[in-house]
Amino acid sequence: MYLHNMETNSKIETFLNKFKDAFLKHNIVKLSLSKVHKAEKDLKNIYIVPVNIKNKNKLSFTYRYKTKNQVKNYDIEQALESLFELIGTSFLQALLKTTSESHQLLISKKGKSTLISSKSNSDLPSKSHNKEKNYLIKSKNNKYLQMLGICDNNGRVKDKQQDKYKQINRYVELMSSWLINLDPSKTQHIVDMGSGKGYLTFALYDYITNSLKQNIKMTGVELRPHLVSLCMEISDACDFNRLEFVSKDINDFKSDEIDVLIALHACDTATDSAIFKGIRSNANLIVCAPCCHKQVRRDMKEPSKFNSITKHGIFKERQAEMLTDTLRTLIMEKEGYKTKAFEFISNEHTRKNIMLVGKNKR
Ligand SMILES: C[S@@+](CC[C@H](N)C(=O)[O-])C[C@H]1O[C@@H](n2cnc3c(N)ncnc32)[C@H](O)[C@@H]1O
Repeated sequence: MYLHNMETNSKIETFLNKFKDAFLKHNIVKLSLSKVHKAEKDLKNIYIVPVNIKNKNKLSFTYRYKTKNQVKNYDIEQALESLFELIGTSFLQALLKTTSESHQLLISKKGKSTLISSKSNSDLPSKSHNKEKNYLIKSKNNKYLQMLGICDNNGRVKDKQQDKYKQINRYVELMSSWLINLDPSKTQHIVDMGSGKGYLTFALYDYITNSLKQNIKMTGVELRPHLVSLCMEISDACDFNRLEFVSKDINDFKSDEIDVLIALHACDTATDSAIFKGIRSNANLIVCAPCCHKQVRRDMKEPSKFNSITKHGIFKERQAEMLTDTLRTLIMEKEGYKTKAFEFISNEHTRKNIMLVGKNKR
């Protein structure tokens, strides 16, 4: 670790006090750390802006590496702690811009420091964590998002629905990247098993039909009749003519014409029933995001030779999750699918973030 002299330490503290002061006054435009000294491998610089997440003011740190960016959000105390560790050790230059001032801290390799402050005029960055313009599913004039309570009548995503909105968009982005590779000359039948309130079903149908102009029909299969009625009502209101919902148990759904099988957060073994239906129909694509893994957890009876690794409830739960999802991918592999398992959204937004994908190799 680089040891600062007293003078440099005091300049870093002055600089961080200005940063804290600007944070409290809500006038930070940005802070950047550059001139790498002894930083992590491939880390080039760090870019920090204020953000508002779930009504809390935070600081978003973008760690810019040679080949990737990594974003971490901190509260002010964590941010100050982290900056104190980084300035003068990992980075020799820090630049703070507020709406009215600019402060530049330069530290030489020998530890000598200079703090230059000047007046400057800059606009505040947008504090919204969700930049509407980047999303595939817009919330403005979006009838189904309004009817589902994701956004208000002006198209503003409600604070409590920000995570859901983000999840919907990430899901549509992923799904569309796979769906554009399917045969365009054939109407693809997409079946969403355990469609619930249809948040993801509507968004996917809308994007594939109205933005990508692909030829699809879509069916949502849901056990609970009142959710099916609600979804039918929304579907009618949006003129989604090729989207229907049926009130059925996944196990009773008869169709040998499933091209794409989706099961998102379908409870426990409902995911397995859905995968079974997809395999039976020789679906081109199977996508599921498992929910709870109760059955395998129940079957992990004690005493067993795994007692020591399942001693704590939380680890037992995680083992059950890993085992269940591994078995699911192995079964799909055995049936001729190439599989992938990954986290499809940050676990900051939901812990149920594993996605299993099977692509038919035949
Ligand atoms: C957690 S919700 C997920 C809803 C939606 N897929 C989503 O991700 O927003 C799971 C839904 O699956 C439905 N479900 C569970 N088991 C089912 C089954 N065997 N057949 C049909 N639907 C089922 C439940 O009623 C529930 O609405």
